[in-house]
Amino acid sequence: MTRMECRLLVWYEKNARKLPWRETLNPYHIWVSEIILQQTRVAQGLPFYYNFITNFPTIKSLAEAPEDAVLKVWQGLGYYSRARNMMKTAQIIMRKHQGRFPSNIAELRLLPGIGNYTAAAIGSFAFNIKMPAVDGNVRRVAARFFGLDDPIGTQKSDQLIESLLLDEMRDCPPALFNQAMIELGALVCKPTSPSCAECPLKENCIAFSENLQEMLPVKIAKKAPKPIYMDYLFIESENHTWIEKRPDNGIWKGLYEFPNTISNGNKLQPNPFHEWFANSAETIMHEPRTFKHQLTHQTIFATLWQFSCKEANIVEEKLKNKIKISVSEIYQFPVHKLMYRFLTEVN
Ligand code: ADE
Repeated sequence: MTRMECRLLVWYEKNARKLPWRETLNPYHIWVSEIILQQTRVAQGLPFYYNFITNFPTIKSLAEAPEDAVLKVWQGLGYYSRARNMMKTAQIIMRKHQGRFPSNIAELRLLPGIGNYTAAAIGSFAFNIKMPAVDGNVRRVAARFFGLDDPIGTQKSDQLIESLLLDEMRDCPPALFNQAMIELGALVCKPTSPSCAECPLKENCIAFSENLQEMLPVKIAKKAPKPIYMDYLFIESENHTWIEKRPDNGIWKGLYEFPNTISNGNKLQPNPFHEWFANSAETIMHEPRTFKHQLTHQTIFATLWQFSCKEANIVEEKLKNKIKISVSEIYQFPVHKLMYRFLTEVN
């Protein structure tokens, strides 16, 4: 028995949350859950998980689905490149692996969107492969338990944690060990104020014995996010509006949104869309509203300009390449979170 193994599993059996992806060996379902959980917490992720596997019950159905349908189901989770990578992976599995997930870490690792953590999670949960799955929760538990004071999240630190945990795993069922580590990080060894009194590992935990829980893990300082200033145009014209599809590069690839421009953030700008309207006297301009929207590396300050007018009053050339829809139809298109905020927070 290693220092961790036995108590950890006893604790897990008693305290683990009952979660649908823990009750299956289906690698497709496990994969879907893991990608969703990279994006959101368990409670918020559950409805997305059920919705995803209801809409795309098999790898084949996902591989064959139209991109917009997948993005629509992903809507609300953000980071749509994950959903796109899932489609690519499903297509590769259909083409190269006879529709079945590869059952070894090296081949899993080659699939788009599957890194060390996800490969180890699928490998251990679905195929019983002995490989520690090192995600944010597990890094935190390991940094405290082993008293690691180098920054976490680097390749070097992940490799060290992986080898230390591999040692601790010994003859333990890999799926149980990995799930238990994740669960301990989520329920007990929390980022702040961990519940050490309840922890099955406290007797051998370096952070606990040296009172370093709040100091560990050490994190790499992050760069400050870059501000981006945008103006969005929401025209309401006899219950219709215009949207466009974002290009296949940059943020929010392929998602739909109102026409927009990037600005320098100069607050004195009166109306960036005045050239859209032939007769400003016949156009009602509503009070513009600025939304602050946080992405991983960027803070977007987006001002929504809302106008009501007759279609004849809009400069025809401006509507080229725009998609005319009835306002209520907008919910049928995959839109990014900021756009969703425009639609739900205005009026
Ligand atoms: N977070 C990431 N993977 C998880 C899992 N399998 N169960 C609960 N939370 C998780």
